[in-house]
Amino acid sequence: MILYDNPASPFCRKVQVLARETGQMKGIEIRPSVGSPVNSDKMPTDHNPLGKIPTLTLKDGAALFDSRVICRYLDDQAGGKFYPKDKLYETLALEALSDGIMDAAVLMVYENRARPEGERSPAMIEAQWAKVTRALDHLESKGVSGGLDMGQIALGCALGYLDFRHANRMWQDGRPKLTAWFDRLSQRASMVATEPHA
Ligand code: BEZ
Repeated sequence: MILYDNPASPFCRKVQVLARETGQMKGIEIRPSVGSPVNSDKMPTDHNPLGKIPTLTLKDGAALFDSRVICRYLDDQAGGKFYPKDKLYETLALEALSDGIMDAAVLMVYENRARPEGERSPAMIEAQWAKVTRALDHLESKGVSGGLDMGQIALGCALGYLDFRHANRMWQDGRPKLTAWFDRLSQRASMVATEPHA
């Protein structure tokens, strides 16, 4: 299998964390891919017309995307532990919420990176951060519990991306439970090995 990947992408990190937790990294070749919404030259457009990462190609040439589909596939290959049947919709909902945090946080980065200075919208950036804030407040009050599942892996990758690209926003402030949970998760070998970098 070939994984089109970028070490800064929290969506790619989800895939790598799950692959490591399920012992599947040996079977995956990493193909570094760099791009942005306004430049897909080096993105896997032959395999994914959207030109987005992560994209995973299988031995028979089939391509899987996006991260949710890839993670579901890898988990099925490994016996289905990270999408447990007895809390499937809870897991999927937490994965979707965490992916939404990533979407908003990445859009904030792209607003500055992909648009020339005069075309940037501070209101758009703050609206994205407001989504992140609401999601984190919800998670702080609801709590995160139970054994490690794909929703929790996605949340860990989302919080790691906030630290990586939006450290100045200090998401930990006023959220001690979420901070403690993330600190524990961050010690796992799969998280340490996939720390985001440019
Ligand atoms: C980033 O540099 O923050 C980034 C790179 C790839 C995908 C998403 C984010």
